[in-house]
Amino acid sequence: KQYLVLNGPNLNRLGKREPDIYGSKTLTDLERELLQFGEEAEIGVSCFQSNHEGDLIDALHEAEEQYAGIVLNPGAFTHYSYAIRDAVAGISIPVMEVHISNVYAREEFRHHSVIAPVAAGQISGAGFFGYRLALLALVNQTGGSKH
Ligand code: DQA
Repeated sequence: KQYLVLNGPNLNRLGKREPDIYGSKTLTDLERELLQFGEEAEIGVSCFQSNHEGDLIDALHEAEEQYAGIVLNPGAFTHYSYAIRDAVAGISIPVMEVHISNVYAREEFRHHSVIAPVAAGQISGAGFFGYRLALLALVNQTGGSKH
């Protein structure tokens, strides 16, 4: 089975963007780590990033054909995009929400996720490692493990 890691707006700026919050590693580092983890754990992993709401929605729709589950970091869309929420609600594969930072320890507007009620679950504050946790949780839920 294949799993998609979908990163939203401003996450292409990882490493440069607020490194005190998001760390000094880049999106390329993250994607490389996840591809390597996928190989080691025998989990098929693909990665995609976009700054555009519509492109993320298209990717969610298209993923249904190809993937068993999605790890989604919607960036700031987390807090207000009903369109992304509807896309998540409208596909039949599970979506695990991930945040690098602990959104509940930050500004008030980050405490609310419009995605969380339609997601399979949420991981917040585990850094890049949270993506691995999310992949493992999805594999566990969808029977994707070869072992
Ligand atoms: C984020 C948290 C969001 O509040 C923020 O807008 C982001 C990144 C995170 O990974 O911690 O862009 O999703």
